[in-house]
Amino acid sequence: MSNHLGNQPREQWASRLGFILAAMGSAVGLGNIWRFSYVTGENGGAAFLIIYFLCILFIGLPIMMAEFTIGRRAQSDVVGSFQTLAPKRPWFIGGFIGVASAFIILSFYGVIAGWTLYYFINYLTGTLWSAPPEGYETYFENFITHSTHPILWQFIFMALTIGVVLIGVKNGIEKTNKLLMPILAILLLVLASYSLTLGGAREGLAFLFSPDWSAFREPEVYLAGLGQAFFSLSLGMGALITYGSYLSKEEKLPGAAYSIASLDTLFAVVAGIMIFPAVFAFGIEPGYGAGLAFVTLPDIFDSIAYGGIVGLAFFFLLAAAGLSSAVSLLEVAVAYFIRKFDWTRKFTAIVIGFIIFLLGIPSSLGLGIWSHITIFDSNILDSMDFLASNIFLPLGGLIIATFVGWGWNKSEAMKESDFGDTFIGHVWIFILRFIAPILIVLVFLSAIGLFN
Ligand code: PHE
Repeated sequence: MSNHLGNQPREQWASRLGFILAAMGSAVGLGNIWRFSYVTGENGGAAFLIIYFLCILFIGLPIMMAEFTIGRRAQSDVVGSFQTLAPKRPWFIGGFIGVASAFIILSFYGVIAGWTLYYFINYLTGTLWSAPPEGYETYFENFITHSTHPILWQFIFMALTIGVVLIGVKNGIEKTNKLLMPILAILLLVLASYSLTLGGAREGLAFLFSPDWSAFREPEVYLAGLGQAFFSLSLGMGALITYGSYLSKEEKLPGAAYSIASLDTLFAVVAGIMIFPAVFAFGIEPGYGAGLAFVTLPDIFDSIAYGGIVGLAFFFLLAAAGLSSAVSLLEVAVAYFIRKFDWTRKFTAIVIGFIIFLLGIPSSLGLGIWSHITIFDSNILDSMDFLASNIFLPLGGLIIATFVGWGWNKSEAMKESDFGDTFIGHVWIFILRFIAPILIVLVFLSAIGLFN
């Protein structure tokens, strides 16, 4: 079997479970723990959480279905899928936004994931089993502002990512996910229950679940919620189009999408229940910023008997969760270049992965020697994250939604999605035609200040 443009046979998932776990592996990652906790902290907690939930329900889930449907029908990468389904029309521009997002996101994602590897190794050697003399916070800050150390770890992480992508869909991506996802889920649940016994539990839960209504008047909170929903569900850049394209026709898409979206959201909420009680118990500012997870978690582990082992397991699993997400990001770009230039998978993974590693270096340096370089008051890493997650992903999602809603034949879209001609199928199309695009545009307009 070969796809329509490239000459190489198209791979497929070995099993339905393999596909669901790989898509879950893409969704569940640093976004659920590192990004979720700090963005929630910076945006005031519960109000943000409500907006994030609404974005998942009314925008994220329908767009996830749209991505799976496009990918499975077209059996091609992001750009190729639009070209197959709508030849000679400009929808494929959405595909290029996706490939660009993959480059930008993975560039800084590799930096953060490198930190998790560093913490893992330091739990392995015992260095972090008890608080370093300067304290966990200063320890963290010294590390991330260093000019070369974090880049070395970013490099190691990117090499691992390249390794998995190079082995290919079935053996590389599918197998790693099957093994590690369930273990991470269990550990997270155990840690969240432990965190609830800490002194900060009441305040932490109130911060997460009882909204400060005035926060709803801040337009940034809406943009942050929208961006987090896209980032966490791996939406808007074709990761799920690409994964859907390795799927055969026998699968049922809606069930897969519900379970992936609910599991991803559950992971984030459980991570919140793990982190916020600790934030208050150890007197850290909820708005501390991107390092929130890295400064609170070691404190938790330090207060548990044999916490060093728990920390070791935790950072191992976090790095692994980051790896399965990074793999899906790299796969988007690799799948495109393999088809476009007919390069081998091995060559493409190495070259593209290395370019992305280089692109990530400024994000790392921006926390240290390049911290004077700021864009709208943010350092390079935060600006990359903002640009990709809050602008490119929702924009890509807007294109995907309008493509399935307006650019494609309605009855074909409903049939290919496995919804068929059902009530829910019509609701889905209605959301893709009107609700999701209007909401995304409104959030954008309010963020640029048009409603002030
Ligand atoms: N969803 C991943 C996470 O939460 C990140 C990601 C974004 C992966 C976009 C693929 C595409 O960590």
